[in-house]
Amino acid sequence: MAKLTLDVKDVMGKTRGYAVATCDKNGIPNVVPTHFVKILSDDEIMLADIFLKKTFENIQKNPVMAVSVWDWDVKPRKGFQLKGTARVETSGKIYDMAVEMVKAEKPDLTPKSAVILKITDIFVTSPGPNAGKNIEEVE
Ligand SMILES: Cc1cc2nc3c(=O)[nH]c(=O)nc-3n(C[C@H](O)[C@H](O)[C@H](O)COP(=O)(O)O)c2cc1C
Repeated sequence: MAKLTLDVKDVMGKTRGYAVATCDKNGIPNVVPTHFVKILSDDEIMLADIFLKKTFENIQKNPVMAVSVWDWDVKPRKGFQLKGTARVETSGKIYDMAVEMVKAEKPDLTPKSAVILKITDIFVTSPGPNAGKNIEEVE
């Protein structure tokens, strides 16, 4: 199981957005921007679903998910790709955290669900010799 390292958490703390990819049952990809993401543990993150439609539908049929995150402001640029399996929760502690996170910034919005990504692999996307490698290979 992959673990979010301090380096990955640092990039996640600085970014303003993420690219979130899912696939439908036929393997047709769907990638969308998201902003509201929270680290739940060293191998789980949560995305607040306010407007997600295809992403939500895809997860029901095919739970694979990839999330790309990067830091534009450091040189050299840094980025990571998180891959794993997603699930959706529409009530409970994690859903309540999604509501709290969104309302703190946008009080008029209420998430429909919390999407939880259980991370199985993390890859480096930073330009350079380690690009594409699993972070476990480069530590
Ligand atoms: C910069 C940016 C940030 C966004 N952040 C979120 C977010 O945190 N949660 C959300 O549900 N939608 C967010 N959206 C809206 C979704 O990306 C948008 O509704 C998208 O069409 C959903 O695609 P889907 O139906 O393929 O899942 C954001 C959009 C942009 C442009």
